[in-house]
Order: sequence, then structure tokens, then C-alpha cells
Amino acid sequence: MRWLLRLVALALLGALGVAVFAAWAWFTVPVDTAGSVDFRRPLAVPPLVESSVVGGERVFDLRLQEGTSDFGRGSTPTWGVNGDYLGPTLRAHRGERVRVRVHNDLPEDSSLHWHGMHLPAQMDGGPHQPVRTGATWEPHWRIDQPAATLWYHPHPHGATARHVYRGVAGMFILDDPESLRLGLPQEYGVDDVPVILQDKQLDDDGSLDEDPSVFQSAGLTGDTVVVNGTVGPYLDVTTELVRLRVVNASNARPYALALDDGSSFEMVAGDGGLLEAPVTLTRLQLSVGERAEIVVALEPGERRVLRSGPSDTRDRMAGGIDRLDLLQLRAADRLTPSRPLPRRLVTQPTLDEADATRTRTFELSGFSINGLSMDMGRVDHRSVVGDTEIWEVTNLDGGSHNFHVHDVQFRVLDVDGEPPPPELSGRKDTIWVRPQETVRIVLRFEDYTSTRWPYMFHCHTLRHEDLGMMGQFLVTEPGDTAPDRLPRSPGHAH
Ligand code: C2O
Ligand code: CU
Ligand code: CU
Repeated sequence: MRWLLRLVALALLGALGVAVFAAWAWFTVPVDTAGSVDFRRPLAVPPLVESSVVGGERVFDLRLQEGTSDFGRGSTPTWGVNGDYLGPTLRAHRGERVRVRVHNDLPEDSSLHWHGMHLPAQMDGGPHQPVRTGATWEPHWRIDQPAATLWYHPHPHGATARHVYRGVAGMFILDDPESLRLGLPQEYGVDDVPVILQDKQLDDDGSLDEDPSVFQSAGLTGDTVVVNGTVGPYLDVTTELVRLRVVNASNARPYALALDDGSSFEMVAGDGGLLEAPVTLTRLQLSVGERAEIVVALEPGERRVLRSGPSDTRDRMAGGIDRLDLLQLRAADRLTPSRPLPRRLVTQPTLDEADATRTRTFELSGFSINGLSMDMGRVDHRSVVGDTEIWEVTNLDGGSHNFHVHDVQFRVLDVDGEPPPPELSGRKDTIWVRPQETVRIVLRFEDYTSTRWPYMFHCHTLRHEDLGMMGQFLVTEPGDTAPDRLPRSPGHAH
């Protein structure tokens, strides 16, 4: 009998332990740094990468490498591109031919994907274009899309979250004649500034905690926000208007951006380029992978803090109720006058629902899409070049997902049947799909056909993507009989 009693006592103790742990996790989860961040370090601005024009191509050199960073707790081992953490900014003009020499000096295979870029699938840098450790990969393509704030990051299947979290990411800015004519703030690093957001969880010895807790199914959210590599950053503003190009380069965390005094700012661009007109906002939510260009007006001598607050979903275990101070803006006592924002920006290329020849449905649930887990050899669907399609994306879960499509920028038709809010009105490549929500997007595949190289669509919550929440499609010529299975590619090694 004694052994039975002991067993029962042990089981009770175990259950109690689990309950205490769960309660502890529940109550310690919200992170609140609002008002308590000491803004002591000037915001790092990623350098513009040098390029040379050779044989009609603009050539960039990127090296993925190991390094160490100072995130305020000694020396943190990190990864970066041409440096210790994050990478330089690439910049190119519409119509230019570009070539990037990507050299991998990391101790493991990786890849480099041009998020938001319209380009041939073979140059896309997804899981089918691994860059082996020690190897160089040299994609090249012609920039053929409107001005936008794009970004780059690794995409090795199953390891994307870790590679991005360690710091392999950077910005890719595209210009075109219209965008440069508008008189928007556009002096890089002065009144046109990248704001690359990542959150980290640091161990006592300064190293990166990489493992989410058992409650964080979306992946790890950290209590330390690093902006362009700077912890507790301030930006000295010398102009009346400052344009911030914000990238959510985090693994799982959504941001709900606002200014600490509740004042408004203007959003001028989303993922894939300028909006038709500036949109006045006091709050802007960005899920993982999304971008926005916002313009903030400051008075001389004023200080304001860009902050992130609770998101609509209030996803507790995915950072949804956290409050985080991100960046302090410090206006100089005398500000250089800025041109007022134009009332109209650009005309959006038409993507008309009426032109759609088919509707596809994507059901997001758990770590799968339409019940399927990513298979590097499976072609999930084929789209015919020139066709306009409607994709209907539904989140069946109680937690958040989002949805990203490679190659093209889409237009949002509706969110749960309602017209999209103005901040979702522009060209987009990534969209938040909140619990139980359905979004309909319209897209068109205009060129770059292949029966061999697929494009990806996936949840951009990186842990979900790594666990298989991804699929792939081919863009083919009409009448092409593309296979349902792809030949083995080097990427199959994962
Ligand atoms: Cu930002 Cu498929 O990725
Ligand atoms: Cu992408
Ligand atoms: Cu997801």
C-alpha cells in the first residue's frame, strides 16, 4: 500500500508542479518596457552596400558570416552579412540589371531570399537555392517593379527561424522615377532611415536564447528589441519630416506601432510600394515580414518614442499583449524644412477581381496548409502565366497566422467580407490572417515561367514555416504539362 500512496503523492506533486509552471508562464509573459527604456545609443544605420557596374549589371557582394554583438549584456554571438549582425542595405533602380554574389562563410548551409522581389524562381533564394557552407551563389535579374522597401533573409527549409534570429537579414530598397519625383524625405540615413525590428531573449551570459517555451507555439518572442542592431536606440532628427522604413524582421512577434503621445503619423508605403495617398494613422500593426514606410513630423527640440502596444489579437503567448519602447526620435533645436507630403502619391497598377479566371482556397491550421505539410518535391499547384487569380486564405485556428506569396505583389480584396483598411490598400506580399479570419487577395503572374523551379507560399511566422506551413507553385506557359513532382534538387538534403 505504501508504494501506491507514494505514487499518488508523486503524481499529485507532479500535477501541482505543472500547474505552478503554467501559472508562472502565464503571469510572467507580458513584457512591458514602455517608459522604462534608457535610450542611450545612437541608432545604427545599415551602410549602403558598395556596388559596381560591370557589363551593364550592378554587382553587389554579400558575405554571410559569424560575429559578435553588444546587446547590452556583454558579447552576444550573432550572425550577419558583411558584418557581425544584420546586413547592409542594397539599393537599385527600376530597370537595372543586378547581380548579387552571395558567399556563405557560416558553419552551415543557408540561402538568401529576396522577399517581395519579382524575379525568376531560380533566382529567388528559397529552399531550392541553398548556398552551401563555403560556397558562392550568384543570382541575377532585372529590377522590374515599382519603388519599394524589400528585404532579404535566409530561407533554408527547417532552419529559417534560427538563421534570421541570429541576424541574417537586411533591406533592399528599390527606386523608380515616380518615387524620386514626389519630394518625399529621401536622404538615406538622414531623413530616410531603415528601422529593422528584431526581438531577442538573452541569457545571463549574453548569448541568444533560441528555444521557445512549450507555450510559445508561434516561436520565441523576446523582451529585448534590437533596432538595426542597436538596443535602446535614439535617432537624431535634423529635418521637419523623417521617413522610417520599418521592417518586421522578427521570428514571431507582431508590432502595433504608435507614438508615445498618441499623435498621428503618415503611412506612405506598404510591403510592395507607395500607396495612392498618404494615410493618417495613430496605430499600425505589422505581422512578421510586413513592411511600412511612415513619415513622422517633429517640432524643434521635441522627443517622441516609437512604441509597440498590444495587437488586435492579444495573442498572449506570441507577444500580443506586450508593450515595448522601440526608438526615441530626438529633434534638433533647429530643423531643416521638409517639403510637405504630396496629397497623391502613385496610381496603383490595376488588379481587377473581374479578370480572375479562378479562385484557390488555402486553409491555415496547425502547421499545415490545406492539411498538407511542406514537401520539397510536391507541386501544390500550377498557375498559368498571364492569369489573374483570387486566393482565399482562411485561418481555422484560435491563434494567428499570416500568409506570404513569393514573386508577386497582390491586392487585398476583402477581410472577412469587408473592404480592407487603408493601410492594406497598396501592393502587398504578406498579410496577417487573424484567428478565424478569411482574407481574399487578387494576384497575377506576368512572366518568368518554369516547369522546374517553384515559388513558395507560406505562413511567415518562422517557426510555423519551418515546421512545414509552406507550399509551392509553378508558373507555367499555357499548355505546359508541368510535373506534379519536381526532380530532386540540392535543397532536398534537408
Ligand atoms: Cu520572407 Cu518565403 O519569405
Ligand atoms: Cu518571400
Ligand atoms: Cu502560422
